[in-house]
Formats: sequence, C-alpha cells, structure tokens
Amino acid sequence: MSVPFLDLHSLYEEIKDEVRPEFDEILDSCYYVLGPKVAAFEEAFAAIAGTKHCVAVASGTAAVHMMIWASDLEPGSGIILPPNTFTASAEGIVLSGHVPIFVDVDKGSYNLSPSKVEQFLKECESGGRLLDPRSGAVIRGILAVDLYGQPADMAAFEEIADRHGLLLFEDACQAHDASRDGRPAGSFGTAAAFSFYPGKNMGAFGEGGAVTTNSDDLARILRMLRDHGSREKYFYDLIGHNYRMSAFQGAVLGIKCGHITRWNDQRRQAAAKYNELLSGFPLELPSEDPGVRHVYHLYAMHTPDRDKLREFLGERGVASGLHYPYPLHTQPAYSYLGGAKGDYPNAEYNSSRNITLPMFPGLTETQQIEVVNAIGEFFSS
Ligand SMILES: Cc1ncc(COP(=O)(O)O)c(C=O)c1O
Repeated sequence: MSVPFLDLHSLYEEIKDEVRPEFDEILDSCYYVLGPKVAAFEEAFAAIAGTKHCVAVASGTAAVHMMIWASDLEPGSGIILPPNTFTASAEGIVLSGHVPIFVDVDKGSYNLSPSKVEQFLKECESGGRLLDPRSGAVIRGILAVDLYGQPADMAAFEEIADRHGLLLFEDACQAHDASRDGRPAGSFGTAAAFSFYPGKNMGAFGEGGAVTTNSDDLARILRMLRDHGSREKYFYDLIGHNYRMSAFQGAVLGIKCGHITRWNDQRRQAAAKYNELLSGFPLELPSEDPGVRHVYHLYAMHTPDRDKLREFLGERGVASGLHYPYPLHTQPAYSYLGGAKGDYPNAEYNSSRNITLPMFPGLTETQQIEVVNAIGEFFSS
C-alpha cells in the first residue's frame, strides 16, 4: 500500500455538497472577484484569527508582501526573520523595499528564538538606534514564522518589539487555527499573513491568502492596496497592485472555516499517534512548546540519515518531504546579504536533518502503521 503526502481529494469529497451550490450562485451572479463570498469569508476568518479585520488577498506571498508594504516603514528598514522558512517570508520584505536580517532559531521548535533576537538587538545598539552591522540597515521590524503549524513565541516578541519600538509581523501561513496560551495565530503584533495554497491546512481550490490585523488604518490601506490603491472606482489614492481574491476561493474558504478546527484536531491526533509509534526509533520527534495548539501543517522529524531514509521510504511507496532543505542565507537569491554557511547553526541543523511525513485530516491508523513499518525496516536494515 502506498501512502500519499496529503489527500486533497477526500477533503473535497467531504465538502462537495456545500461547494457546488455556492459555485452555482457565483456562476449565476457573474460576481467573480471579491464581492459577497469573499466578504463573508473575511468575517468568518477574522473570528478564527481573533482579529477585528481580515483582508483577503490573492496568495500567501501577496499577504506577506502587503502587510509589510502597508505598514509604511522607512525605505531600507531592516526586518529580522528566521533563515529556515519558505522564500516568500523574505520576498515580502524585499518587495516592500526593506532588508531581511536573519537571526537563528531555537532547537526543538525551530522557530525564531526570542533570546537570540534579544542578544542580536543588543549587539546592534548604536547611538540610540539599532543598526544591523552587516547591511547598515536600521532595524524596524521582526517577522516571526509559525513553522510547521506551531506559533512562534509571539508574546515574547511582542514584549521585545514594544521595548525596542519595532513593528511585529507574523507569518502564519502554516498555522490556521493554531494558538499559543489561548491566543490564536494571526492575532499578535501589527499584522499576520496566511496562505490558502491548496496543500495548506485551510486550502483554497487555487491560490489565496489573507492579512489579519486589529488596526483599522492598516486594514483600510490593505483594502486599497490589493485593488490598485483605489478607494472607489476611478480614484487612486495609492500605487497598489492587483492582489484581489477570486469569489470562488472566497466561497471555498468560507465553507472551510466551518471545518478547520475539526480537521486540525484530526491532524493533532495523527501527530500523537506518530509520536507513540515512532518513540523507539533514533529520531528527534516534533516538540510542542507549553501552551501551544500546534496544528501540524507538517509533521517534521529529524535524523542525520534523512536523505537515505527518504529514498528508502520512496522505494516503499511512502511519500515524504523536506521543509526546507536549504536555509535562505545559503540561497543565491539572498547572497547579496552576505550570509554564509555556518552563520545560523540551528537553522542549518534543521535544514540538513528534517524530513516530513504524510499528514492530513483523515490519515488512517493503517496508513500511519505502514509509514512506521517502513521506517522500522530502514533502521533495522
Ligand atoms: C511560511 C510561508 N510563508 C509564505 C508562504 C507563501 O504562500 P503562497 O504559496 O500562498 O504564496 C508559504 C506557503 O508555502 C509559507 O509556508
């Protein structure tokens, strides 16, 4: 029996009867972009993220870009982020005209480390400003990423950001309906970005994203920027973009708002089952920080043998992934920042050892046993 990495088809089957009439309504109304379906989704998702506003956009990449762009920081500002994230986290900073500044992560969660950020900021203090020694940029923000579905320690970053007068952004693209100490992912700091790429915990039937915020001003600017900087038709107050969400995605995501908590509970149960079944193997299993609702967008474990293990699993029909095999400071696109291998040991440890296993709502115990048997065979061979 082969085990897929995720199963989008069975999720579609679960909601098919809800989706079809909504799509018919859109097709009959010809209201294809934004409109009432997107507005209804925004209201439902703001309730999940625990914020006053949710602004739906075209993708998670657009969401990261927009939340930073809309914050109107001085051009060339330095924004701290972890190196072991998807490239879109850093792209949002660069596309907004700013400088990504990498700081290492904590072992275990592999999320941006508050103590390392604190230490780095101390080293940057210079004449009442925070100057990044490498780029010379003035540091004005922190972008923490909720890696694998576990919220970063956002309360610690709120405290650090407040004390240093920095903006705090959350890349919650992997953490729909996650929480930390009862506070939902998306509700911390200045604003948060979500992705609804099909493989995400809450996936659209195409591309989609959202920014959540409690700021009325930021939400107003975001609504303008996603639609060419326009306040109303024919009036352009700002240079914007076309980052609008399609009505079809709004409809799908509105429906999925009613299922996400149950689906994430299933992911959490599957993660607990993997933890139990894999406990005897020489593997570093995922850890949950205290008070966290980790939603296991990815079940990531670590082993020095991950490349051989991955190949072995592949031969037995068990899908697996790497998230992410090369940290951003070692990628050609970011070489201009001057980073080098060895700069961020924990992020590099994560990149060289992580392997992600099949994880989706509806993953059966039989499928999980199949995965674990293949891992067992690998370690006994
Ligand atoms: C951490 C992170 N940030 C940003 C994105 C970008 O989202 P999208 O693919 O919807 O543009 C993703 C999606 O892969 C992500 O995982």
